[in-house]
Amino acid sequence: MKDYFDKLPQELQDLIKLASDIAGRSGMPAYLVGGFVRDLILGVRNLDLDIVVEGDAIKFASDFASCLKAKFITHRRFGTATVFINHGLKIDFATARKETYPYPASLPQVTFGSLRDDLVRRDFTINAMAASLNQGEFGKIIDLFNGREDLRNKLIRVLHDLSFIDDPTRLLRAVRFEQRYDFKIEPRTLKYLKEASRLKMLHKVHPQRVRDELILILQESSPLKPVKRLCALCGLSFIDTEMSFTKKTNAFLKAVQAQIAWFGKTHISRRKLDAWVMYFMALIEQLNISRVRRLCRQFVFRKGEEKRFLDYKKIKRSLVLQLSRSHIKPSRLFWLLEPLSYEVILLLRAKYKDKALHRNIADFLRMYNGMRIDTTGEHLRQFGLTPGPLYQRILRRVLNAKLNGLVRTKEEELSLVKRILKIK
Ligand code: CTP
Repeated sequence: MKDYFDKLPQELQDLIKLASDIAGRSGMPAYLVGGFVRDLILGVRNLDLDIVVEGDAIKFASDFASCLKAKFITHRRFGTATVFINHGLKIDFATARKETYPYPASLPQVTFGSLRDDLVRRDFTINAMAASLNQGEFGKIIDLFNGREDLRNKLIRVLHDLSFIDDPTRLLRAVRFEQRYDFKIEPRTLKYLKEASRLKMLHKVHPQRVRDELILILQESSPLKPVKRLCALCGLSFIDTEMSFTKKTNAFLKAVQAQIAWFGKTHISRRKLDAWVMYFMALIEQLNISRVRRLCRQFVFRKGEEKRFLDYKKIKRSLVLQLSRSHIKPSRLFWLLEPLSYEVILLLRAKYKDKALHRNIADFLRMYNGMRIDTTGEHLRQFGLTPGPLYQRILRRVLNAKLNGLVRTKEEELSLVKRILKIK
């Protein structure tokens, strides 16, 4: 690993050296494993370090965190802990484990084991390598399944023929890694994958595990490629039996991608988009609202995600027609779009090609979104008004006036309030 290791940013090298010191001091052998080792060899940046410890990983992580005065959380039941370093860097520590699957697509039964046990239970050869952190062999790559050769030959290969049956979420993972690195799923693995797909194994996994892997696909930097490949290999009926991938789906996904790129370029200071939410909506476009509701229950999406899915589904034709007018008052535009999230607004822009709609949405995002007034309830109280529903109506009139360019400054707002209240 020496060469790979030397190329890492200094901060990562220091962290890895610290883990190595703790391994030496504590007598608990430790290894970098999984995706980090894969990306280390590929020279791809990866800030998620996974360390497997042959011993008490929680004790190990606690020593590690206290050397750095870093925050860490533990999952005692699983023998794992995560240490959070600055700048999004995190390190997961796990006691080496052995897994057995009591029945296909089940959650595995876990017992503690050796590094070998821990590598044997993994998905693909390229993800089943370890780099030793132990003195005397620091940096040695432990490669029991020729992962390095598969990396060289750009191949995704399972470790055994029942891999997809044991854990069908690996179908999604195979496609994700294949498309991310421009690899190929090697022929036998592809045969097993197709068999598992034919047996509808993805329908048998717990929906939340499918959801997590699906989200990971949609969070890839170019999700269209893995989505298309997934549809070709497995279809989409594991999400909902009414779903299929059509030319329309493809065009919608592309339009979504273009909108995400547009928003990224033109609205840099806004919050980061949940791009996957938009891709997911494009994917389930054919489903009606009751099926989307059912899907939300089944996949247990977060409240905020569910809200965006349903807001989009509830959009009425009349809203689209109003947005398509070439002249629309800014205050009207504001009240149509302000309640919606960026993801939903951009989905509208992706779905409808109307020029006026595109311009109106761009105007809203550029000029009106988040507009506030300086007038407050306190001002109204000072004008002698008793708090009540009237407050909201007056504040809304002032905001509308500001949106429509009729008032600009705080003074102009307050004189408008006086005019409304007929105060001299
Ligand atoms: N893993 C597995 N089977 C799964 C999920 C994970 O064998 N169903 C193993 C793989 O060895 C994988 C490691 O756990 O490398 C970590 O999983 P994860 O963090 O999901 O993937 P990474 O390989 O780190 O990929 P990414 O770069 O996308 O985070």
